[in-house]
Amino acid sequence: MRFAKWISAPVKNDGSAVVFKKRFRDDGVVSALIKISGLGIYCAHINGKKIGRQVLTPGWTSYTYRVQYQTVDVTDLLEEDNLIEIGVGPGWAIGRMGYHGDASLYADRVCTVAEIELTYDDGRVEYIYTDESWDTYSSEVTFSDIYDGETIDKTAEPVCYGKAIFSAYQFNAIEQVGADIVENEIIKPARLIVTPKGERVIDFGQNMTGYVSLKIKGQKGERVVISHAEVLDKEGNFYTGNYRSAKNILTFVLSGEEDCFKPTYSFQGFRYIRLDEFPNADVDLRAFSAIVVHSDMERTGYFTCGDEKINQLYHNIIWGHKSNYLDIPTDCPQRDERLGWTGDTQVFCRTAGINYDVRKFFRKWLGELRLEQEENGAVRGVCPEKFGNGYHTRISAGWGDVATIAPMTLYELYGDESFLSENFELMRRWVEYQHSAGPEEFLWLGGVHYGDWLAHDSGEDSYEGATSADLIASAFFYHSTELLVRAGEILGRDVEEYKTLAANVKRRFREFFMENGMPKGDASNLGKPLKNEDRHGMTQTAITLILHFGLCEESERAALADKLVELIALFGNRMSTGFLGTPYILHALSDSGKQDVAYKLFFNEDNPSWLYSVNNGATTMWEHWNSVKEDGSFWSDAMNSFNHYAYGCVADWMYGKICGVEIAEDGAGYSKITLTPRPCRRLGFAKCAIDTVRGRVKSAWYYTGERINFEFTVPAGTEALITLPDGYTEKVGGGSYCYSVAAN
Ligand code: BGC
Repeated sequence: MRFAKWISAPVKNDGSAVVFKKRFRDDGVVSALIKISGLGIYCAHINGKKIGRQVLTPGWTSYTYRVQYQTVDVTDLLEEDNLIEIGVGPGWAIGRMGYHGDASLYADRVCTVAEIELTYDDGRVEYIYTDESWDTYSSEVTFSDIYDGETIDKTAEPVCYGKAIFSAYQFNAIEQVGADIVENEIIKPARLIVTPKGERVIDFGQNMTGYVSLKIKGQKGERVVISHAEVLDKEGNFYTGNYRSAKNILTFVLSGEEDCFKPTYSFQGFRYIRLDEFPNADVDLRAFSAIVVHSDMERTGYFTCGDEKINQLYHNIIWGHKSNYLDIPTDCPQRDERLGWTGDTQVFCRTAGINYDVRKFFRKWLGELRLEQEENGAVRGVCPEKFGNGYHTRISAGWGDVATIAPMTLYELYGDESFLSENFELMRRWVEYQHSAGPEEFLWLGGVHYGDWLAHDSGEDSYEGATSADLIASAFFYHSTELLVRAGEILGRDVEEYKTLAANVKRRFREFFMENGMPKGDASNLGKPLKNEDRHGMTQTAITLILHFGLCEESERAALADKLVELIALFGNRMSTGFLGTPYILHALSDSGKQDVAYKLFFNEDNPSWLYSVNNGATTMWEHWNSVKEDGSFWSDAMNSFNHYAYGCVADWMYGKICGVEIAEDGAGYSKITLTPRPCRRLGFAKCAIDTVRGRVKSAWYYTGERINFEFTVPAGTEALITLPDGYTEKVGGGSYCYSVAAN
């Protein structure tokens, strides 16, 4: 922006929105372009018409370093006399953020910056921009908070606060880099319920992120008060305990005319709403909608099979994804958190990039990660991290490793080297952090981590699981170093030093954590609560990481895979993995010739399993394997989300191993593909399609009597190695291919 300065109203934040206004004339304007931003969240109109299609602008960045502005062509909105109004609510920057309850983290009041470039028919260019000539007013949004909800009072008369003042905070405004945040779909109510407590509850049938809209006419001053919930409790009553301190309440005060309400500066994560106050005895469901809001991403992945429970699981994964890709990758969309947890992001990013085109989305967030990387290379648990005064999340293995895993994953999926070149220093400095952490050069010992978060092998209420944190940290240190070496080789940089480092880390890992090709540890306490110092390496997660990251010798693989199968059997044929073991366990089994065991885990319905939540009516992924326990009670309110995508990472295995579509080692961007489908009778058929940057890849298989049929489509200009279950292999180029083999 050339002339505009950030302006504020002469009042401090009191939770309400502020409206900035300016009048200007159009004497022969042929084009008008606005650049506009705000802190917290802005929504702007010219002559009562909304500017741009985006909502919740300017989005969430690491505001200390940069705030995005949006550029919109507003020529069509102009009349002879024009009024521009920019409403700004507290949003992420000024409202309460994080579970410490702190607010006003970036400024003590909302502010805005805007510049309209008017081009006249005679070629003249003129600018209207934010300065002290703007007027500031109160808003009908008398309260708004990301967590607590919004109050819209249609009877509130605007109060003039006086002229704008230059803001004490002159933020760095940059052109928007992320994907647009938009209203993507509308869900109509599925049913009205009267709960045993007598509450009137509307069920939208789908857990989601966004907000309710309501069309209503009533007496002036009458109120509608709406609470939100993700689930009903076992008695069928409305349950908000898991929102923790987030109130998620909407209050609408009616004007007396027909009103249309929806929040502007906040959003909720919910499936149900409760009408706490509603003026009419009858509830007309047609007046309600749930508007689904997330970053605009093109859908690229599709999966279907012959098992309805698995299809529901896939549906839940997609909805977990949509619900948590709202400008940044969040852990959950509902409680007093909704933060960019780096571990969750790392775990899910491969699945995300198959489901949707997430290039723009990640380009922006990785920018935030680079800006927030600490001097010593540390990458924290959350990004953007500022959500409490002076508070920091942990520097944890499996969380900070998003710095290496996400760029490499994006490179593999899209074949775009800029994901590696832009982030090479981020990757390298993270590896250097790991290298310098703890008392040993080639191991990461003694750190404070999140561990194998929420694994059940140390009891189902455990947070950090049974796997040794040192082992996990050192395994991820090796993995990140390997990814750095690969990135360097692709970019043609000298990474000899890091090759040697990787070899040393592997050597020390094996000396320290392994004996005779096996991790050290004692599985006899499996499932019992363990003290931190007693956590060990004889766990499903430890073996999975060793196999998947290549910390073993080839000759040790078979015995390790057998041990993994043994530990699965010991845990009642269930997995005991948490956030860090789960993404890889089925891959580790499939890649070790244990596809039958992988399927056994995948189809398991007992807690912990993927289908346990499906059997319990889930429509999104849960944070815990057992967010609802077997007796119908809930996991502790302290941390229980019903919309957490992390365990949805299994979709990557569904595309990659059930349908068999994977990127070959040197086939970034699907230039070389492997097609190795693994049919099974229970599914009957499975098919997937992936719209890659090189075109659509398809893989399908189905049984007919005693035969299994395969159909593949390979995009032109790529090559695929087809491997059928009977061992037949063929290298093919672009085209469509069918095969049939005997089922055994
Ligand atoms: C989040 C997680 C996150 C974790 C850190 C939680 O509160 O919801 O998903 O990764 O903290 O371990």
